[in-house]
Formats: sequence, C-alpha cells, structure tokens
Amino acid sequence: MSGMRRPKRNEMGGRLSSLALPILTKRLVLRLPTLADTDSFMSEAHDPRLLQWFSKGSPPETREEQVDTIKKIRKAARAGDSLSLGLFDRGSGASVGVISLSSLNWGDMCAEIGYIVSPNHWGKGYATEAVASLCAEAFGCLNLHRIEAQVWPSNLASGRVLEKVGFHKEGTRRQCDLKGKTWLDCDTYGLLRGENRLGPT
Ligand SMILES: CC(C)(COP(=O)(O)OP(=O)(O)OC[C@H]1O[C@@H](n2cnc3c(N)ncnc32)[C@H](O)[C@@H]1OP(=O)(O)O)[C@@H](O)C(=O)NCCC(=O)NCCS
Repeated sequence: MSGMRRPKRNEMGGRLSSLALPILTKRLVLRLPTLADTDSFMSEAHDPRLLQWFSKGSPPETREEQVDTIKKIRKAARAGDSLSLGLFDRGSGASVGVISLSSLNWGDMCAEIGYIVSPNHWGKGYATEAVASLCAEAFGCLNLHRIEAQVWPSNLASGRVLEKVGFHKEGTRRQCDLKGKTWLDCDTYGLLRGENRLGPT
C-alpha cells in the first residue's frame, strides 16, 4: 500500500505536494482526474438532480470544455492553488463523484471543502467516506487547522454529511448567493483539527 500512496512527480506543487495521492478509503480511490476520465465525467454531469444544486457556472457542455476543465484542475494542483480529486470505486474503477479543497489559506491554515456524488450513487455513504478521509489527510499531511463548507440550508443531504463527519454549523450568511434572480442564504460549517469523528475511512 505504501508504494501506491507515493505522490507522482510534478502531480502537485507548493504545499499540496505533502499530500500523497491516491488517497484510498474503504471503497474509494481519490485521485487527480486524467483526460481518460473525460467521458465518464460528462455522462452524469447534466443530471437535473445535480444541476438544482448549482448557482453559478454549469458543468462543461462539450467534450472540449470537459478536457479543458481537467487540464485546469491538473494545472491548479501543480501550482499548489487548489485540489480537485475524482472519486472512483475501488473495485470497478467507475467514477462516482468529485471532491475539492479550495480557498487554501496557508497563513491561517484553513481551506474550504466541496463535493459532488453522482445521483445514481447517492445514499451509499460515499460523500461521508470521502469527506472524512480528505479532511484526515488535510489535517495530517497538510497540517491544516480548520476546514469549512458552505451549504444552502435546503441541502439537507449535504448538511447531514458534514454533521456525520463532525462539522459544526457555525452560522448563516444571509443572502450571500445569487441563483438566477433569487438570493439564497448559506450555512457555514466548520471542522477543527481533532474534531473529525470518522478519521480516515
Ligand atoms: C450532498 C451529496 C454529496 C451527498 O452524497 P451521498 O454520497 O449521497 O451522501 P452520504 O450517503 O454519505 O450521506 C447522505 C446523508 O444525507 C441523508 N439525506 C439524504 N437526503 C436527505 C434529505 N432530503 N433530508 C435529510 N437527510 C437526507 C442520508 O440519509 C444520509 O444520512 P444518514 O447516513 O444519516 O442516513 C449528494 O447528495 C450530492 O452530490 N448533492 C449535489 C451536490 C451537492 O449538494 N454538493 C454539496 C454542496 S455544499
């Protein structure tokens, strides 16, 4: 296992290079996407069950846009700016979602986490497994002190994922997100080092 976890040279830069990829959980592999993932990423991205949870931007419309997105993800990781990892079933290799660490702030040792699971895989505990494991790596290898998430109050599944891992709901940012013509509140959830209930999964 230790051999598998050695980071590939030039895959990640800056302080992100302390994090060894892939991250393995009980059922998932968390790794940087490659261009070989283009078609599987596109296949479920426009499912209306997912799109309802987007406010800005939309998933890539064309294969070329998806290729471009994967290239940008890899470039951002190499630059140490942000980390977006695909979630893949350890057995079949099927893509089941994505997870990210962004807004990396090395001064305050904090970052924001985001995640999406493909609707056909909802309710199997994949998001919880991935969030707990990435947080464990971020507190361990990256030495972060705090990880936060922004969640619409109506997104009960996402709030539940965070609560299961040990995040605290810290407050509500009122009307901070414009979706179409509607202002939406966002709940801020925070997890401090030592609060991850599930640890690596
Ligand atoms: C949020 C999301 C990632 C959850 O993925 P998942 O793999 O299904 O999550 P898990 O199976 O680990 O856990 C989901 C939990 O929410 C609960 N849940 C799901 N729908 C719910 C609802 N409508 N009301 C209350 N709880 C709900 C599940 O029962 C489960 O809790 P439990 O284990 O206590 O039963 C997935 O729904 C998703 O991709 N949504 C769209 C994108 C998104 O919202 N991302 C997060 C942005 S902040």
